[in-house]
Amino acid sequence: MKQSDCLAVNEQGHLTIGGCDTVKLAKEYGTPLYVLDESGVRAACRSYRNSIDRFYQGRGMVCYASKAFCCKEIYRIMDDEHMGIDVVSEGELYTALSVGFPAERICFHGNNKTDHELCYALEAGIGLFIVDNEYELVRLNQFAKEMGKKANISFRIKPGVDAHTHDFVRTGQIDSKFGVALETGEAMEIVCKALSLDHLVLKGVHCHIGSQIFELEPFELAAQKMIEFMAEVRDKTGYIIEELDLGGGFGICYTEKDQALQYDSYMEKVSVVVKQSCERLSFPQPFMMLEPGRSIVGPSGITLYTAGAIKEIPNIRTYAAIDGGMTDNPRYALYQSEYEAIVANKASMPKSAKVTLAGKCCESGDLLGEHMPIQPMESGDIVAVLSTGAYNYSMASNYNRLCRPAVVMVKEGSSRLIVKRESMEDLVRNDL
Ligand code: LLP
Repeated sequence: MKQSDCLAVNEQGHLTIGGCDTVKLAKEYGTPLYVLDESGVRAACRSYRNSIDRFYQGRGMVCYASKAFCCKEIYRIMDDEHMGIDVVSEGELYTALSVGFPAERICFHGNNKTDHELCYALEAGIGLFIVDNEYELVRLNQFAKEMGKKANISFRIKPGVDAHTHDFVRTGQIDSKFGVALETGEAMEIVCKALSLDHLVLKGVHCHIGSQIFELEPFELAAQKMIEFMAEVRDKTGYIIEELDLGGGFGICYTEKDQALQYDSYMEKVSVVVKQSCERLSFPQPFMMLEPGRSIVGPSGITLYTAGAIKEIPNIRTYAAIDGGMTDNPRYALYQSEYEAIVANKASMPKSAKVTLAGKCCESGDLLGEHMPIQPMESGDIVAVLSTGAYNYSMASNYNRLCRPAVVMVKEGSSRLIVKRESMEDLVRNDL
């Protein structure tokens, strides 16, 4: 799935997404506006699911990492696509349960789940707790005991694999706030402790080695290390851990510089390592879980803005201000993530200009990109920033008391609102 799969240019020279004219969408729903192409999201789910069927005899589950983009409608679509989901907070869990998402297909992540979150998830009967640390383990067992329940658990393990990605989104090494380390013996210790607790059932082990990864080798290495650990647990305790979750992290194309990989190449490669490692260690092949987030929704989303003031600073740069910015997309400010932009109402024209897209916040770093190639811009143009389906809406804020934009879902030429634009009343709702 590439961004270009859902984008086209119509007879008027306007950019379209999912068969809808983006200039019309901007007029109808206002800007800034997030737009998500439903067919693209569904296609991404299917390619991951099919890859498990094809390369691993269907013995696995794909859990959408809903931190990438969370709202009621996305959970309805994930349910319809027979996906599992990964949630990381009471808020994500509540949203999923509110549309009747089946609890048994929900996995609960997080490095500091509160007592309330653990009890809420236990009451809901979710399928799996991915336990991060001993403090959580002991409390979960206690709460399950008080409720007369048994909870299925997996452990977040740091396999010590460096996925060559941006420091902020790298989570697999020893120096990480997530999980327990293999190298130090911490992982084995916590597994042994879990086996002694009566209200927990150890189902699996989990690792997530980073995000926006383009190489397959780190995943292969992580898979091998995890199987070796599962075999070590068997050798030491006699207990067979049945599930292996290799997390998410598959990279998407933000600009032409990024080289897209086919989603099914992931399972194709990883399944070979899993099968070979299992054979070498005489270990039964585990049930496999994947947790893609960005690659499910990222390429199918764009954000539409209206251009305002355009400021040319001679011999330096041209700032083109848009009616959103770091509040709806903090990723440039946070990680210097690069994006591609198009003037939606001039999409058939060549990108002969370069602009620095500036947001409207009182913050010099509030930019969406610098020196971005784009069509010549004028105030009033509609600007589309591409590949914003993941970690944009979900990371949006109300800084400067800006309202979070609406989200519109498009599909085969029709559009529907799936998240309303915030209003002034929403902004003051909790103010006393
Ligand atoms: N599973 C776990 C346990 C995770 O922590 C994450 C992402 C995923 C799955 C999904 O990873 P994905 O397939 O989306 O790469 N805000 C950052 C990304 C943070 C990712 C955190 N964990 C960004 O905007 O790039």
